[in-house]
Amino acid sequence: MVLSHVQDGTRDGDAAAAVLIVYAHPHPGRSIANRLLLDAVRDLDGLRVQSLYDLYPDFSIDVEAERRLLEQARLVVWQHPLYWYSVPALLQLWFEEVLGRGWAYGEAQHALAGKDCLWVATTGASADAYTAAGEHGHPFSAFVPPIEQTARFCGMHWLEPLITHGAHAQDARAPRARAADYRARLQRYLDGHG
Ligand SMILES: Cc1cc2nc3c(=O)[nH]c(=O)nc-3n(C[C@H](O)[C@H](O)[C@H](O)COP(=O)(O)O)c2cc1C
Repeated sequence: MVLSHVQDGTRDGDAAAAVLIVYAHPHPGRSIANRLLLDAVRDLDGLRVQSLYDLYPDFSIDVEAERRLLEQARLVVWQHPLYWYSVPALLQLWFEEVLGRGWAYGEAQHALAGKDCLWVATTGASADAYTAAGEHGHPFSAFVPPIEQTARFCGMHWLEPLITHGAHAQDARAPRARAADYRARLQRYLDGHG
């Protein structure tokens, strides 16, 4: 691991990493599911975690610093709990400010083109709640396109997302099981792009 901002919330230069996890949990200290997932991967060499809510509690994102890290990465991971069928507010702001015209898209530059993008999200609801007859009225796949198309619009290659449903269960069985998949996927990626 290059470094993590999650434990201390500090900024520490722009050390390059092949895998950049853009982590958006509004209450990192209260997380169970996302913390289990992150703890499973954070020690991998070549990986950096940007914990947005630790770094930018005032929502004042250092756009240039974020862009430098993205330019150095090969795989960009967006990891967060699902909030209102979407991303938490600070990640939405990160999309708006960091993925700007003239840098991420537009005529001038496509800084992220050709990079890979992995979406790692946890949901409170179980998988059965994401059906036409279920509490959320739609299959989970109905909520994927805005995130997927954000990556694709920037020219990134969309990888199969890693979604953990039922993140609220007391025994945290789902995130525990998914954590091993997460580590294996990132380890394979790093091995293949070392
Ligand atoms: C404001 C808010 C909105 C949420 N919206 C959703 C939602 O749309 N769908 C869902 O399945 N869970 C939703 N949840 C539940 C979270 O996704 C769940 O608590 C989280 O994935 C658990 O991960 P954690 O242990 O890392 O916090 C929401 C929770 C909050 C606080």
